Amino acid sequence: YEIAWDAEAADKGGWSSFMAKEITEQPEAVANTFRGRVVDGRVEIPELSALGEERLREVDRIVIIACGTASYAGQIGAYAIERWARVPVEVQLSHEFRYRDPVLSPSTMVISVSQSGETMDTLMAVKYAKDRGVTTVSVCNTQSATIPRESDAAVYTHAGPEVAVASTKAFTAQITALYLIGLHLGRVRGTLSPEEEAQAASAFEQLPQAVAEAVETHEQIAQLAHWMADTRSVLFLGRHVGYPTALEGALKLKEIAYIHAEGFAAGELKHGPIALIDHGQPVFVLVPSPRRSPVMHSKVVSNIQEIRARGARVIAIVEKGDTAVLPYADDVIRMPLTDPLFEPLVQVVPLQWFALELSTAKGLDVDQPRNLAKSVTVE
Ligand code: G6P
Repeated sequence: YEIAWDAEAADKGGWSSFMAKEITEQPEAVANTFRGRVVDGRVEIPELSALGEERLREVDRIVIIACGTASYAGQIGAYAIERWARVPVEVQLSHEFRYRDPVLSPSTMVISVSQSGETMDTLMAVKYAKDRGVTTVSVCNTQSATIPRESDAAVYTHAGPEVAVASTKAFTAQITALYLIGLHLGRVRGTLSPEEEAQAASAFEQLPQAVAEAVETHEQIAQLAHWMADTRSVLFLGRHVGYPTALEGALKLKEIAYIHAEGFAAGELKHGPIALIDHGQPVFVLVPSPRRSPVMHSKVVSNIQEIRARGARVIAIVEKGDTAVLPYADDVIRMPLTDPLFEPLVQVVPLQWFALELSTAKGLDVDQPRNLAKSVTVE
């Protein structure tokens, strides 16, 4: 009688891959990232306070720079920062930012987002900005990595070590950190009402439980992936914060399942992508809350009708209780109730599971996909 045990399996906490383990760690990852920064309904990031209120009030433009998954966290964060801090935010890929001769001034703030803190293109872009007198803030998951050390302020995500090449818990922790930055800036700049701050604080409190519920979709997604193992192309549609979430869902699938996948802004459908839809084309649709975002909800439902009429296989990710999509969806994945801005933090979880399960169904190495590295430290 032998007990099967090996150190690697133990590290995976009983899961078949680090990615699976890391997906399930997201409730903790987000909680650890906002813990101590949301206290009694007030958001405060000491590392930003250290920059001085005057400096934060003078910021008139924010540029978020990042690569890969971190850039999608940046795109989602941009909606929240603009909402709460009323500063224009743009998101640029680090390698594009560096070589475009960017317009920068001392009142620009550059926020870099990087799990590893070592991505060469992002590091060089931060140095470029710093040399031009710009305030640089780093959102990073790795203590004392080069990018946070080179930046004026470091706002760490506390997702814990991420081993799988495809980023999951670092992504949700990055969104959390960017939201906290938006709230802190909004409070200091006087653009955030006490009601909004309280509403966001309560959304944070409920977030770990909501993410835990999203993690529970695993079984349902595993079955879906099982039936879709031969799929050659998958599309993802979303609006507002659902748009970068769609891009992230597509990236996950490319990275670990080697399947052609694309994310689109649902409103762009009729400007091209709808021509791709023919019989059986799988499309994941991220549906906003009908209670909280009724206008966007009805637009997305029309998009679903349009693609369904052209033969798409619709997999709808909806808020639980949303029955409007039932007549048009082949599969419905139900999400817990959240504040609309917080939807990506739950909606991305089934997309992560889907990529993982398709990769597994194809017999691929989930944690170490071909041709990719966890941290790209060369240019
Ligand atoms: C690589 C990884 C991605 C990651 C990207 C940015 O491409 O495979 O998962 O999103 O780098 O990495 P960073 O460490 O800067 O977040």
